[in-house]
Amino acid sequence: MQDLESLGMKRGLLYETIITTQNKNGTPNAAPIGVVCKNKNEIVLNLFEGTHTLENIKASSKFIVNILKDPLVFVGCTTEDLSYDYFKKHNNDFYIKNTDAFFIASVTSIKGIEKEDNVSKSKMSIVKASADEIIIKKNCVEPLNRAIFAIIESLVYSTRIKIVDEETSQIYAERIHEMSRIVNRVGSLDHKKAMQDILKYIEKR
Ligand SMILES: Cc1cc2nc3c(=O)[nH]c(=O)nc-3n(C[C@H](O)[C@H](O)[C@H](O)COP(=O)(O)O)c2cc1C
Repeated sequence: MQDLESLGMKRGLLYETIITTQNKNGTPNAAPIGVVCKNKNEIVLNLFEGTHTLENIKASSKFIVNILKDPLVFVGCTTEDLSYDYFKKHNNDFYIKNTDAFFIASVTSIKGIEKEDNVSKSKMSIVKASADEIIIKKNCVEPLNRAIFAIIESLVYSTRIKIVDEETSQIYAERIHEMSRIVNRVGSLDHKKAMQDILKYIEKR
C-alpha cells in the first residue's frame, strides 16, 4: 500500500504544499500551507485562524494535499484566487490539475491554541489528519522542503563573506543566521548538522 514514504516524505520534516478545499458555495480554494510528516500515514498542520483553508477544513473534516513545485501555482494562490482552470475534481474534491502527486487527508483532531512571539499573539489551530488515498501523477515526485535551499543560499554567502567589506559581511552573517532558524524549524538532522558546519566556518572568518 502507498503511504507518505512513497511520496518521499520523511518523519519530522515540514513540507511546503498547496492545500485544496471547497468553499461553502462549492467553489475551490487553494493555499500554500506547511505540512509536518508525523509518520507514514499521519500529518499535522498549524493553521492561522481566519484562513479559508481552516474554515473549510472545519466544515468538511477533509482536505487535499498537493505535492508540486510550480511557482505560478504557489504565487497565484497567495496573491489572488487561483483561476478555476487550475483545478480538477477527484470524486467530489478539488485538486490542482498539474500537481506531481496528491493525497486526501481526513481530520482526526483539531485543537485551538494561542501562539505568542515578541511582537504579537495569534490564534491558531493544530490540525491532525491521516493520509487516506495517495495518487502519484508524475514519475518524479519530491515534496518541497526549504532546508536545502536555505543551506545552499547560506553556503553561497559563506564563500563571499571573506571578500566583502565589514558592513556587508555583517549583513551576510545575519542572513545566514536567519536561514539557520529556518533549517532548525523545517529540516532533518543532516540539514541541521550541515547548517551548524556553515556557522562554525563563518565564525572562523
Ligand atoms: C510557503 C508558504 C507556507 C505557508 N504555510 C502556512 C501554514 O502552515 N499555516 C498557515 O496558516 N498559513 C500558511 N501560509 C500562509 C497562507 O498560505 C496564507 O495566509 C493564505 O492567504 C491563506 O489562504 P486561504 O485564506 O485561502 O486559506 C503559508 C504561505 C506560504 C507562502
